Amino acid sequence: MSNLKNKLQNFKKRKEQITCLTCYDSSFSKILNDSKIDIVLVGDSLGMVIKGKENTHSVTMDEILYHSKCVSTYKENFILMADMPINSYDNIDIATLNAKKLLEQEVDIVKVEYQDKHFEVIKGFVNAKIPICAHIGYLPQKSKNEEDIRIYGKDKKEKEKLLKQAKLLESIGVDIILLECVDSDLANTITRSLITPVIGIGSGEGCDGQVQVLYDLIGVSKNPPKFSKNYLANGNNIPEAIRNFYNYVKGINRK
Ligand code: KIV
Repeated sequence: MSNLKNKLQNFKKRKEQITCLTCYDSSFSKILNDSKIDIVLVGDSLGMVIKGKENTHSVTMDEILYHSKCVSTYKENFILMADMPINSYDNIDIATLNAKKLLEQEVDIVKVEYQDKHFEVIKGFVNAKIPICAHIGYLPQKSKNEEDIRIYGKDKKEKEKLLKQAKLLESIGVDIILLECVDSDLANTITRSLITPVIGIGSGEGCDGQVQVLYDLIGVSKNPPKFSKNYLANGNNIPEAIRNFYNYVKGINRK
């Protein structure tokens, strides 16, 4: 087992919740590093919060590489995860080439939005020892309109599909699973069914950790999702807001 996989599974074994925040530049990377955030994600949410677009679809591989390089500047304590943007993992050759470019920028683990058509790519990554986070539930890269932004896994068919996908991904050997907008009871069931750590965004508190878009947390996103929480509202400054998120997720001084 790789050191990273071991490190991630150890969070779950010792029942320590994982904190994950997005980041796109070196100034915030320093704050997140000092705040001991476990995973820092260079997310393709940069399409909205950096580029001001409606969705993630315009984000390119070069942009993710550039922002990963910026964020890696202060990487000392955190695990650096980066999104594979839309069209960057359509087949195994292109996916492996792009993932390796990210690993060259000190990225520790790449994230892909998983659909059944990506099965071979995921298997190829595992064979090539490219650490991988599989993102399931709401998939922003697949999303065509606002109606796609909803809770997934409420009905029996979707519930079974997501549970089956999560178990399959574990059996192939992904390092971590991210659930976005998954029904909280289902998210809890998936989390309890796997030894693989499961982190969630908008998926309730029953996962092994929580993810948030940094700009939602500090109240500067134009359209923050309903489930996000502005931690700056009750904090005096950005480092304090991040510490409050960290403490809340880790269950420290939680009222
Ligand atoms: O791009 C991103 O910020 C993400 C999170 C919403 C999980 O993928």
